[in-house]
Amino acid sequence: MGFKSGARGGRLKRAMDPLAEAMNASIEFDRRLAHFDIRGSIAHAQMLEEVGVLDSEEVAAICDGLKTIGHEIAKGNFPLDPALEDIHMNIEDRLIKRIGTPGMRLHTARSRNDQVATDLKLYALHSAKKLIQLLRVLRKSFVTKAQKYKKGMIPGYTHLQRAQPVTIGHHLLAYEAMFHRDQRRLQTYIERVSRSPLGAGALATTTFNIDRTSTAKKLGFRHVMKNSMDAVSDRDFVLDLLHCVTTVGIHLSRLGEELVLWTSKEFQFASIGPAYCSTSSIMPQKANADIAELLRGKVGRLIGSWVAVATVCKGLPLAYNKDLQETQEPMFDAVETSLQCVEVAAKMVSSLKFHVENTEAAVTNSYALATELADYLAQKGVPFREAHHAVGALVHWASTQNRKLNSLKLTELRKFHDAFARDVFPWIDAEVSINRRNNVGGPAIKQISLQLRELKKELTDVPTL
Ligand code: ARG
Repeated sequence: MGFKSGARGGRLKRAMDPLAEAMNASIEFDRRLAHFDIRGSIAHAQMLEEVGVLDSEEVAAICDGLKTIGHEIAKGNFPLDPALEDIHMNIEDRLIKRIGTPGMRLHTARSRNDQVATDLKLYALHSAKKLIQLLRVLRKSFVTKAQKYKKGMIPGYTHLQRAQPVTIGHHLLAYEAMFHRDQRRLQTYIERVSRSPLGAGALATTTFNIDRTSTAKKLGFRHVMKNSMDAVSDRDFVLDLLHCVTTVGIHLSRLGEELVLWTSKEFQFASIGPAYCSTSSIMPQKANADIAELLRGKVGRLIGSWVAVATVCKGLPLAYNKDLQETQEPMFDAVETSLQCVEVAAKMVSSLKFHVENTEAAVTNSYALATELADYLAQKGVPFREAHHAVGALVHWASTQNRKLNSLKLTELRKFHDAFARDVFPWIDAEVSINRRNNVGGPAIKQISLQLRELKKELTDVPTL
């Protein structure tokens, strides 16, 4: 027979040039697929028994052999051979060495092309589920912190200029909302992508009468892919996952930026727990927000991964091409980076302490209540544009006099508009102003309490994935 390890030796009579071999091998990174490869092979073998291609003894030997290999891999006892190119060939070779002929039958009615597409998709779906769990932990940390600082006032900003007062709770729940959206994006991703490529063969299925629905079901897929050529060459699910994790990364980078600002001497709004700071090798006074900076910086790799995969896939002729192997490393890196970032972010958010005296001073030492005065006039029947103009002039004058809004007398206010009356004063109180914004999504304590109640309930329910 002259059978040698791997697929070489039949058509190709010479070993590969070591340089080409190193370039061709993916084992250094696709070893992450081992667990999914074994699951896929077991499902395939069981299906081959169901349709009468393999007998029960052969399939039992294959499944036992694969499970043992799974344990070896988990224990780190699995020698990987780059000459065998990838994880698929390494596992198959090991199986053949262990169980002989039945192992040589496993690849019946299958190709590495549908095999790798299946493994990658299982990895992608598994990663999406893991990320959803971690996003829930992160959302919980925002909810707990928002509860603690439900009433603490802080300026809300536009253009990074103090705009209108809100509460720290409201600000933190804005992040919760972003990560909630990320979670839902991943949930719909899972539903959309849950289609099995297994059985597509190299590109045109197989001459054997296989049952693709059976393998799909065994592997937890909801459907089978309808076109075998598309099935082996589709990596949209990689791109879509990268889009999901990149959006998570963009949100984390915004959080990172705000934490860097808030913990600076210039703001002094918050401190991050020392476990998430580092110091300088030369300046002994430094407690730097490195982890927050890394949350801001890591998104570069995520965006880069999307661009890399999109560039690999563009212009590829149907069906499988080896270029597709190049989609793997960016996906692994982006998945691992995003999981790490979300997990660390949750812990860092839990470690946050707000300096409410400073955030509230920033509210009172600003003209963040100017809109209230304009609204006050408008409620008195003054056209809003006219009210806006009058209050603008008032703020201009007050700032030249270095006067805060709540220090102004009625006579001074009336110089700018004669609709100002004694009942204006509650309008220049930040807390009253916040609670007046009692609309859905607004900062009023009532609204925040309502949201917190709903969120706490949702986050204690066990999610169905
Ligand atoms: N390691 C390969 C990949 O990731 C497996 C598929 C190889 N198929 C082939 N026709 N050479 O794409």
